[in-house]
Amino acid sequence: MNMQDIILKKRYGKALSDEDIDFFVKGVVDKSIPDYQISALLMAIVLNGMDDREMTELTIKMAESGRQNDLSYIDGIPVDKHSTGGVGDKCTPLVMPLVATFGVSTVKLSGRGLGFTGGTVDKFESVEGFNVEVPMSEFPDLIKKCNMAISGQTPDLAPADKVLYALRDVTGTIDSIPLIASSIMSKKIAGGAHGIVLDVTCGHGAFMKNLEEAVKLSEAMIRIGKLAGREVVAVITDMNQPLGRNVGNVIEMQEVFEILSGKHISDVENVVCALAANMIMLAGKNEGMSIDELIDECKVRLTDGRALEKYKELILSQGGHINSNGSPIYVDYPNECMRISASQDGYISAIKADMIGKASVALGAGRKVKTDEIDYGAGIGFYVKAGDYVKRGDALCALYLGSKHTEDEDRLFEAAEIISDAYEYSDIKPDIAPSVIEVLK
Ligand code: URA
Repeated sequence: MNMQDIILKKRYGKALSDEDIDFFVKGVVDKSIPDYQISALLMAIVLNGMDDREMTELTIKMAESGRQNDLSYIDGIPVDKHSTGGVGDKCTPLVMPLVATFGVSTVKLSGRGLGFTGGTVDKFESVEGFNVEVPMSEFPDLIKKCNMAISGQTPDLAPADKVLYALRDVTGTIDSIPLIASSIMSKKIAGGAHGIVLDVTCGHGAFMKNLEEAVKLSEAMIRIGKLAGREVVAVITDMNQPLGRNVGNVIEMQEVFEILSGKHISDVENVVCALAANMIMLAGKNEGMSIDELIDECKVRLTDGRALEKYKELILSQGGHINSNGSPIYVDYPNECMRISASQDGYISAIKADMIGKASVALGAGRKVKTDEIDYGAGIGFYVKAGDYVKRGDALCALYLGSKHTEDEDRLFEAAEIISDAYEYSDIKPDIAPSVIEVLK
């Protein structure tokens, strides 16, 4: 068997055999297949797709490419969440403490930013002292202490995905249903959770641009989960504008703290509570409540201080520093360096989240290539959201750089240029999609 034949097979639209997929995944992990051949096959998969059998086989082989976690130290049914990627997605640091208030424990293995989407690990790393490289052997203690443990994807968990994820990020091969479904589900299956809640983002700022694609991706992941004996719920959420009021690392963690301290930001609240309620349901810790009652109860606990207490426990248990107000201390702080104003009167009909994601990468909040260093203080803060009315000259958003980078004017101008194309206006009040669009099981 040789890799060139496998690439050609997929290039000509044929299905790969189980043996081809096994050969590919083994070669990715033992490095016998060079990056250029891996990338060529990834591109052929993007262009010609995979059927259900290929997708499931790829997922299982990727899950088996490394260690399979045993979460039996968790009291009850282990559950997990995963997002297909979004802009301004700060759900994980909110969901974990929220479900913990119901006694639901979560072991989260999260990723770094990919393409124009932000990464949860980068966000937690913006807290001074917070250790995102906790060895798995310490997870049982962390769970006992505060019901929560979070770490970057360890090299031995789905190692094939680690290689593919990094290559996809820089070869234009991210937005493909078989590649996203196998990447996510291999990590979730190897991660050991029995109940999996997927946040499938949909719109400009997501890999799935419309509802039809988001439903297809959701159904693919639900099917793969069933075949692997897992219960999967997919919550399709809107990503036609960034989630919440900020995009960046420190600035999003500051927003997390504000929400947990009582601030209501409706789109974030709706998505977080839908995800959390479904996780609590799958964990069987719903205390007799229906899903709608659970969502209402989650909304109360998210902002009344109960989730905040658990959040502080999480930050402290992994070495993060907290100041006397109870807020995390960050590795850097955002400095407002430029404001973008409305170019005309009208309703904001769209804030294209992909452009905002790209602008935030241009500012330094994400990586253009995998070796780039992040400016944790860089980001964008929004004064208005889609559906709001503005007059010409009103402030739309502010651009921030970290205090160590405020001289970096080129980044500001590059970001400002991208953002000028992100806003669309309308004379009539536009219909804005709900933040939670559909839930599939
Ligand atoms: N998140 C992942 O873990 N993998 C993808 O391919 C996309 C989003």
